[in-house]
Amino acid sequence: FVKRIVLPFITSISLLSAPAALAKDYKMALGDAAGGTQWELGTKFAELLDEKSKGKLKVNLFPNGQLGNEQDTVNNASLGLLDFSVLAINNVTPFSPTVGLLTMPYVILSPEEAKSLTQGKIGEELVKNTVRDANVRIVGWAYSGFRVLTNSKRPIKSLKDLKGLVIRVPRNEIMMSTYQAWGVNPTPMAWSETFTGLQLGVVDGQDNPYITIDAMKFNEVQKYVTNIRYIFSIEPLIVSESVFQSQKPEVQAMILEAGKEATEHSYKFLLESEEKIKRSLIAKGMEIHTPVNAEKEWIDLAKKKVWPKFYDSIGGKAKLDEALATLGRKAH
Ligand code: MLT
Repeated sequence: FVKRIVLPFITSISLLSAPAALAKDYKMALGDAAGGTQWELGTKFAELLDEKSKGKLKVNLFPNGQLGNEQDTVNNASLGLLDFSVLAINNVTPFSPTVGLLTMPYVILSPEEAKSLTQGKIGEELVKNTVRDANVRIVGWAYSGFRVLTNSKRPIKSLKDLKGLVIRVPRNEIMMSTYQAWGVNPTPMAWSETFTGLQLGVVDGQDNPYITIDAMKFNEVQKYVTNIRYIFSIEPLIVSESVFQSQKPEVQAMILEAGKEATEHSYKFLLESEEKIKRSLIAKGMEIHTPVNAEKEWIDLAKKKVWPKFYDSIGGKAKLDEALATLGRKAH
């Protein structure tokens, strides 16, 4: 009798707590709507994993913040409650401050530089730090282009024009400090609330790459774009480290390979589509302006006031100098 009661009980408990190594259906959160670089990276990764595992490993994508705002997804993956997330690196920084190196204003000056920082020795180090600090592992990168400034009120060509506008920023100290250096007090707001914030006029503007502006349909609530190049948007694909460690070695290898190949796809997507998307935003009524004097006043203030403030959190001034040297530029 005992056997009849206890055995099924034990069997059902062990099924319930079966190691994630047996999981075939993963969940992936995306902060952005379908159609941008996050979507390209995520769908390519899912396709590759499916292919490599001969249809055994499936990834279901949940775009548009359906599984929570981007910072919540880091928390959930860290706790092992979510498998994968693709999100902007600026929303990983609060959990693993050294990745702030990638959002220091005016450090990355081209798509090639974004690629060489994320895929070289510095990138490898940031991956390790993120596992250590946040219990999530970066297995791929999406490249989304420079974040440009949009607003609903007026063309902005100089810092004088920016004064008085309410600008939304992610909850990210480096980005908040940059706007403060430029003379405005920005409003931190979660990504998932930003469209509504702009639509209701709670905030006047925000910054994000052209591809993201298009995927999120911000052109419906924003008219003016200023073509600043202060941060090149990098969006990692993260996997929960607890989930990753509970996979069989061959599954781990497939995840890493699929991540690498999807990264290449994301880079090509950026180069092929950014210009087209920019033109389509103009056709839909957006006006694009360039800051006067090649952005010099913006650059000088950011380097002088923001860089020194964050040396400690990114791993010391020497780390920034190492990044600049990797990019073939002089130490600060
Ligand atoms: C943000 O502005 O919070 C993010 O960079 C948006 C994104 O993930 O595309």
